[in-house]
Amino acid sequence: MEVKLVSVPEAIPAKAYTTERVGISKATHDNHLTLWKGYANKTNEIRKALAEMTIDPAAANQIYSQIRALKVNYAFAYGGLINHNVYFETIGGEGGAATGNVATLIDEAYGNFDRFATEWKATGMGSRGWVFLGYDHDEQRVGIYAGDSQDTFPTWNHTLLLAMDVYEHAYYLDFQTARMKYIEAYMQVIDWNSVNGLLKK
Ligand SMILES: [Fe+2]
Repeated sequence: MEVKLVSVPEAIPAKAYTTERVGISKATHDNHLTLWKGYANKTNEIRKALAEMTIDPAAANQIYSQIRALKVNYAFAYGGLINHNVYFETIGGEGGAATGNVATLIDEAYGNFDRFATEWKATGMGSRGWVFLGYDHDEQRVGIYAGDSQDTFPTWNHTLLLAMDVYEHAYYLDFQTARMKYIEAYMQVIDWNSVNGLLKK
């Protein structure tokens, strides 16, 4: 069985380093790259393991089994890759209020940008790993979602437009435990052009 592999990120996109102007440092990004690569490598490792495995439905077990370990950890690995792909693609911009079509969608869903920004920040303080902006293809609306890890809590038929990493590795080096300071900094470097690019796709 042919295994389709993901490409492993080789570097942080150059524009992401401009976040140094708000205190999100090069050292943070360089360390983050190691983790980002890890999600890609483990995605590929699990894809290969599944393809090569002799699958016996009688051996599958919900408490522990090889298939369970591979399936559960695949969601974490591939989810982690996609979350970081979007994180690094959508930082290094001018920040501030949203622009373009995504601004229209945010206004439709939240009334105005300030209301959106308030809920975004609160979700960042209230979740353990991520804040996501997803476009719901069924309702044709954007929504803010909390994520406690790489594989929670998004739902189906959404396109991920924006992902803010609030795991401590994303900010501890620069802001220690002051997560709100990191969130405020992050909001000054969102690249709304890239977010609109993802929306178009
Ligand atoms: Fe991360």
